[in-house]
Amino acid sequence: MSGNDRLTLDYGNVMAPRLGGRGIEPEALEGLADRFRAVHEDTEARRADGELGFYGLAERTALVDQIEAFADRGQMFQNVVVLGIGGSALGTTALLHALRGPDWNERSDEGREHFPRLFVLDNVDPDTVASLLDRIDVRTTLFNVISKSGTTAETMSQYLVVRERLEEALDGPEAVRRHLVFTTDPESGVLRRIADGEGVVTLPVPGNVGGRFSVLSAVGLLPAAMVGIDIDGLLAGARAMDERCRTGELAGNPAGLFAAVQWLADTGAQAPIHVMMPYSDRLYSVADWFRQLWAESLGKRVDRAGNEVFTGPTPVKALGATDQHSQVQLYMEGPFDKTVTFLAVAERDQDVPIPELYGEIDALGYLGGRTLGELLDAERRATGAALTERGRMNMTLELPRIDERAIGSLLMMLEIATVYAGGLYGVDPLDQPGVELGKRLTYGQMGRPGVEPAEIPEPDPRWVSR
Ligand code: PA5
Repeated sequence: MSGNDRLTLDYGNVMAPRLGGRGIEPEALEGLADRFRAVHEDTEARRADGELGFYGLAERTALVDQIEAFADRGQMFQNVVVLGIGGSALGTTALLHALRGPDWNERSDEGREHFPRLFVLDNVDPDTVASLLDRIDVRTTLFNVISKSGTTAETMSQYLVVRERLEEALDGPEAVRRHLVFTTDPESGVLRRIADGEGVVTLPVPGNVGGRFSVLSAVGLLPAAMVGIDIDGLLAGARAMDERCRTGELAGNPAGLFAAVQWLADTGAQAPIHVMMPYSDRLYSVADWFRQLWAESLGKRVDRAGNEVFTGPTPVKALGATDQHSQVQLYMEGPFDKTVTFLAVAERDQDVPIPELYGEIDALGYLGGRTLGELLDAERRATGAALTERGRMNMTLELPRIDERAIGSLLMMLEIATVYAGGLYGVDPLDQPGVELGKRLTYGQMGRPGVEPAEIPEPDPRWVSR
């Protein structure tokens, strides 16, 4: 479909003429041109003021050399474990699964070309943490503690658990230090203090880059480089997409079109649920990463002028073809409250031929001689066509292939789209006051000095079924 080396966004199936009247009228999209130009100008101004630091991450700086050098030295480790949560974890998982495969850690040393395994502990579930620490040998493991604020309770408690394990297993503070690298704010936070005091190697999360926009900073790049992902290729792809999105002309700006279509669908066509559905297991974690980006950036109580708006779309992730047998019935016949964005791959790295067996059975014979990739693509096209026939908005974002360049480009496009969408919704996509409130209440519950515990009511027996 793309016929070239670039990402392609086909949004024809959200347009009303294709959907028998439902969906977005061409005039509504065309009518957004001036509004988008203003949003784009405002974005460019915020970028020039240094507020949107994620754009600058695509530049190849000395930090990238530092990351590559550190990653080279780190090849002696058998495991890398990222301790982090939310924006400090999801991007790394997306990169790992897309570019090394969801099965990376199950492969043999040869299968991993002797690069380390990479685990991302995105939670504090004791079952998961205990099981991971039982499975790996901390003496051959590097722990990358990632927290921009350097205080998040989940990450810091993961660190305390790991720290004790390292102290038990290794001989003295110098040995412990060699198994740690912190990625955190260059100036503030507890992690920064510990690193300065103990001489732990650190990499920065720039002050003007929020967690969910940090995948192309040291947050995502260090773990990626540790498993042999070509981080230069990622950045090159991100730069190419940035270049494409420098135009204020909506029709020529893919991130602008993605944001505009989703915003019009929500505010003009009663579709506040935005499903992202890759037809590739390797891209499923990209949908997970996007879910956080879209939700945390756009779900806001107040707009930029301080008015209460309680706005924001609800992102949902689904997987093709698996969720055709789980969710698609709802998408096809339930309320008209969704858009579905398919992630497609033009050229797959590998394919599996389907053997020509049982040719005499019509219900099987037709599959023989085709491939699993063909089947998956056919399912995606068929689902798109069926949704369209039922008047359901859907669009397709196609990658030429799954490689560093395409993934860098995709992530950058979705980040830029999120900022544009913030402009269209009139909210600040960079803050997350709701998350901060949750963090404060947790600190209070856990008895952190100086933080008042919140009143959490006891269960009322009238409304509890036991
Ligand atoms: O995107 C965000 O800002 C959040 O999801 C944070 O990444 C998350 O809360 C973790 O914060 P920190 O990196 O400060 O530990």
